[in-house]
This record gives sequence, C-alpha cells and structure tokens, in this order.
Amino acid sequence: MSPAEAQKRIAALRAQVAHHDELYYRKATPEITDFDYDTLKAELAGLERLFPEAATAAGAESPTARIGDDRTEGFVRVKHRLAMTTLDNTYDEGELREFHARLVKALGSEDLAYTVEPKIDGLAVSLTYEKGRLTRAVTRGDGEEGDDVTANVRTIRGLPHTLAAAPVPELIEIRGEIYLSVEEFRRINQLQEEAGEAAYANPRNLAAGTLKQLDAKLVASRKLEIVLYGMGVCEPEVVTSQTGYRDQLKRWGLPVVELFSEVRGIEAVCAAIRDLDEKRRALAYGTDGAVVKLNDFALQKKVGFRGMAADGRAEAARKLSPRWACAFKFAPDRAETRVRDITIQVGRTGALTPVAELEPVFLAGTTVKRATLHNAEEIARKDVRVGDAVLVEKAGEIIPAVVAVLVEKRPAGSAPYAFPRACPVCQTPATRGEEEVVWRCPNPNCPEKVRRRIEHFASKGCLDIDGLGEEMVDLLLRNGRIASIPDIFRLKVEDLLPLKKSGEVWAGNLIAGIAARRQADLWRVINGLGIPQVGAAAAKDLARTFRSLPGLAGATEAELLRIDGFGEKTALAVRRWFADPANRALVDELQAVGLEPTPPAAASSALAGKAFVLTGTLPTLSREEATAKIEAAGGKVSGSVSKKTHYVVAGEEAGSKLEKARALGVPVLDEKALLDLLGAD
Ligand code: IVH
Repeated sequence: MSPAEAQKRIAALRAQVAHHDELYYRKATPEITDFDYDTLKAELAGLERLFPEAATAAGAESPTARIGDDRTEGFVRVKHRLAMTTLDNTYDEGELREFHARLVKALGSEDLAYTVEPKIDGLAVSLTYEKGRLTRAVTRGDGEEGDDVTANVRTIRGLPHTLAAAPVPELIEIRGEIYLSVEEFRRINQLQEEAGEAAYANPRNLAAGTLKQLDAKLVASRKLEIVLYGMGVCEPEVVTSQTGYRDQLKRWGLPVVELFSEVRGIEAVCAAIRDLDEKRRALAYGTDGAVVKLNDFALQKKVGFRGMAADGRAEAARKLSPRWACAFKFAPDRAETRVRDITIQVGRTGALTPVAELEPVFLAGTTVKRATLHNAEEIARKDVRVGDAVLVEKAGEIIPAVVAVLVEKRPAGSAPYAFPRACPVCQTPATRGEEEVVWRCPNPNCPEKVRRRIEHFASKGCLDIDGLGEEMVDLLLRNGRIASIPDIFRLKVEDLLPLKKSGEVWAGNLIAGIAARRQADLWRVINGLGIPQVGAAAAKDLARTFRSLPGLAGATEAELLRIDGFGEKTALAVRRWFADPANRALVDELQAVGLEPTPPAAASSALAGKAFVLTGTLPTLSREEATAKIEAAGGKVSGSVSKKTHYVVAGEEAGSKLEKARALGVPVLDEKALLDLLGAD
C-alpha cells in the first residue's frame, strides 16, 4: 500500500469507526457486530502505526485516540475525579503473551500475580460513596466527564446505598458495569412484542437505553443490575490489591464479579481464561471476554498508563489505557447453516416480519432453527436468499441473527428474495408509512391480526385471564367459538364442552377465570386495547387521568399532553385510535358485554395527578416511604425535573435537581412541607 492509499483508507476507516461509535455509545443501536467493529478498529490502528505521516495527513482526530462517548441530552454532566479509561481488546493469545512480556521487562520479574475475571457486556459507571454513602452515579461519558444517572442507578435493587462494613473511606469511586440479566431481557422483549413494538437486539443496548431514560418510573420497571470491579480515587487507600479490593467490596455488601481467580504467570492466565470461557454462559450477565489485571496495586502504579507524560499528567485529550490490564475477547459464537425458507410473521399491528427458517444448528448451548431478518431493507442489504449458506451469530448470546451470507457457496440459479407485496395470511396488499421501514397488513380483520389481538388482550400484562393462553385462543378461533375480543365475555360452559374430549372442569374454570376479570383494573383493559405507543406504564397514566373508557375516548390532545411523559407522538396515537369507528365500536361492545373496569383507587382531590420529584436524603422518610405516601394520595413520582413537575421534595445533599427546580420555578418542599401537604389533603 502506498502512503497516499493508506491516507485514503485511514480517512475512510476513521469516518466509519466514528459512525459506529456514535451508534453504539450514544444511540445504543449498533448496526454491526462487536467483532466486525473490533476488526475495523484494528485495521485502522495498524495503518496508523505503519503510516504515521499518512495518519496525520488524513486529518480528523482518530477514534483510536479517543474512547467512545456515551453522553446524551438531558443529563447533567459530571467530571470524574479520576478519568475512566478503557482497554484495547485482543482476540489473540499471542498478544496476551506480549502483554505479559512487557510487564516482565518493566518489573524485572517473571513471577507476576494476575487476576482473571469476566469482561461484562454492559455499560460502565462510576459510583461515588462519600463517608460510606452513595452520593453519585456517573456514566463513563468521554472518560473525563459523564452523565449523572444517580436517580436511575438508585432504582437498582441489589445496590446498597451505604457501605456495610469498616474501613469506610472518606471518598471512593467504585466502578463497574450495569447490565440486564438474560431473563429480564426476555421478559421486556415479550412485553415489547405484546405492545406491538420492535424487539430490542440485545441486553447491552437495552440496558444502555434504560439507564438513559429520563423517566425513573420506567427505569424502575426494568430490573437493571450491577457488578463492581474497579476503583477510581480512594481516600484514604484501604486495600492494596485487586483480590483484596474484591473481598472488601463483598464485605461492604456490594455485588462483585463471579468466576474470579488469582493466578501466577502467563500459562496459568491462559488456563484460567479457557476455564472461564467454558463456564461463563451460566452467569446472569452477558460476557464477551476476560479481563486480566496485575494483582498488586503497587505494581500497577509502577507501570502506569499509556498516553501519559513521564510526570504522570495525562496528555490532553489522549486516550489513557492502563499498562497493567488487558482485555481478551472471546470470538463470537457463530455457526454456519443454510436458509431453508424465508417466511413472514404477521404481528398484532400488522407488521410483516421476515424470518429465516434455518437448517437446525447447535450454537452456544441451544439449537437454532429460526433467525429474524428484521425487515425488507435488511434482507436486501444482506442479500439473503432461500438456499444460501449463512453465518448465524447469537447477538448478546440470545437472539440469533444472520450476520453474513457466504456468497461463494450460493447455489446456482438462486434469485434475490422478493418481499411479498401482500399479507401472506389474508392477501391484502401490504402498505408502508412514509418514514417507516416496516411493511404492514392494513386489513383490520386479517385473521392473524385478530388472533394476536385476542392473545394480547388475555395475556399476563393485560387482562391476565387464567386458562386463556395462545393454544386456547387458537382452539376457540378454529372452532368458531369466538371471533373478536368481546366474544370472550359471551362464552358459556356449553360452548366449550364439545371442544375437548375429557372432563368439564377446564371449561368451568375458564368461564370462572373470564368472569373474575370483568372488573379488571382499568389500566389492564387500556393496555389490552393495543393502542400504538401505549404499553403498561402509559396505560396506568391514562387510567389515573381519565378513570373510565368513555373518559379516555373523549380525551383532548391538550389533556393528553398534560400527562407527564406524554409527547405529541403518544397523544396523537391515542387520538387516532379512538377516532377509528371500528375501535369505538369495540369499546362500546366491551361495555355491552358487561366489562366494568376498575379505576385506580380514588385519588384524594388536591394531589391527584400531581408530579413530584424527590432529591437528596429526607430526615425521616426513606425514598420508598415518601414515594408510597405520595402515590397513595394520588400523586406520582418521577425521576427528572421538567416544566411538568409540580413539586420537588428536597432533602440533605440535594443536587442538580434542586438547581433545576429553582431554575424552572418549580416549588420546592422539605419533608415537613410534604407531610403538611399530604396531611392537609
Ligand atoms: S477493568 C482501565 N474489569 O470493559 C479499565 N473492565 O475495555 C479497567 N469491563 O471500560 C477496566 N468488565 O467498561 C474491567 N471485569 C472487568 C470488566 C471491565 C467489563 C468494561 C469496562 C472497561 C472495558 C475495558
């Protein structure tokens, strides 16, 4: 490669990597796999090393010299006391051995003690504990300065807000990783599907998206978790090694990484990594590698950081990376298989989702038979065809995705996949909104949409009707016992008996189960209607505000927009839904068949619907107690201060929210004033 060619390639790679950094760190919607990203970045770093002049001439600051920046709008920015650095990744045992060789040379000893632990695929945060109390949680940001996510981090159930044992430092920055468990990820995606929304690609992105929500209520409804492994400043120092630090974190009551080991020498490091690779899938969090660290803090200090001047000061805007640690990444779980067919799934909202039907292949512990192809554009972009040999990968080790087509193995005479122009179930021509990627079946009576709507209505997050799962809905539909949601409430035991050979107990139980739900909570019914943009949380807001289906049906745009957390999009979706005569007929029919939803407990007048934000520590009430009292009085508690906030309740060490309240002119209460307000009500 000539220097001129190198310069061109470097410029192109820089633009690409910067683009993917933006998608991954800020938007949490990556388009390429971690492996492909690492490959691009490695090529860039290699060229920059080989052609330093071309690298300078290519202009633009290189993403190899920066770390990804996660800072987003709407958060207060906070400087880390000690910069949060990152590690270069390697997929190669040889590079790991070079890491060891460099340390042997620098420290003059072969016999070095290392710790080996999983590299967690979450997002980095730094927690500050002052005098043993959690005062701040900040994302990595650009390494120097991150977003203040304290309110959201406080919703993490497994994280103590005070350190449980001595010695307690005056101030310590404890670093770790926030994640969503595989189980929680599945649960949320299920709800997402029920709400007719797109599934999240992997737990890491969902965790990142959740942590950056301004609505603490929504954050609390998703079970974020945390593990801790690192240290920023610690005054005074209380431990002298990684192993000692982990033990101390445990004594403080904080969650620490499992599958942790302390070993001597590089052979033992490699063996520990292999062992970790075998066991890591049993962990609750996704792992994408191992982190190897020099155990002794004194030795860590001795070797220091790359990108640091000799006097210990960071070279401005340079990426710092510790010489005492190394990240070894595991190659992603990929397998080759063949696409037998491409089928189309019809969702409740009519969304047509293409699915690759695969020759079954064993991948990371499970047999994979199907993989989502997302949408028509995605198929076209990858040019996936029936008969193709493809590589499938488990993104975040969960949802299988087709990551590449092995074009060289393509059978002769294959043709590009033609996305159907019509719904495969009812044959109605498909339509697509102007800015949408998703094709939909527009027929409101499409049998598949009807089936999915009924399933949704009866499902756990909605009416939660015992005995009315997918199979039963299918049985009732096929036998003409129901054709719509209201039909559920018209069922009688006699209608059911002929459907199954054995027993009648089930029929009686199902009818009783349905009868028991006639007075279901209003929010469940609203959620069950399947209004676009409205999931459980919004349904609760609507139930609290409008208190009946007719009330909701008559809601004006202004009334909807007044609800905290409701934007134009949601308000419009609600209005549109109720403007449709078919939907209004559904609501009328539900009332005609005797559905009498129960509105939320009558809120005591003055505080009904008032939005509160809590900040700082109150003298007697815990955050949970204060929240419960406010909610019991009909108010709601949210995580961030906006123009729609009615009161901010501030205690000791109240931070940026208090400042924001003052700036916006929101009334500020102390605990006593809050209690007076609640009592007076
Ligand atoms: S130690 C100086 N240990 O991976 C940075 N990091 O590329 C030392 N990570 O930024 C980090 N699990 O966000 C460390 N067990 C672990 C980790 C871990 C995940 C993340 C962390 C860091 C990146 C390193």
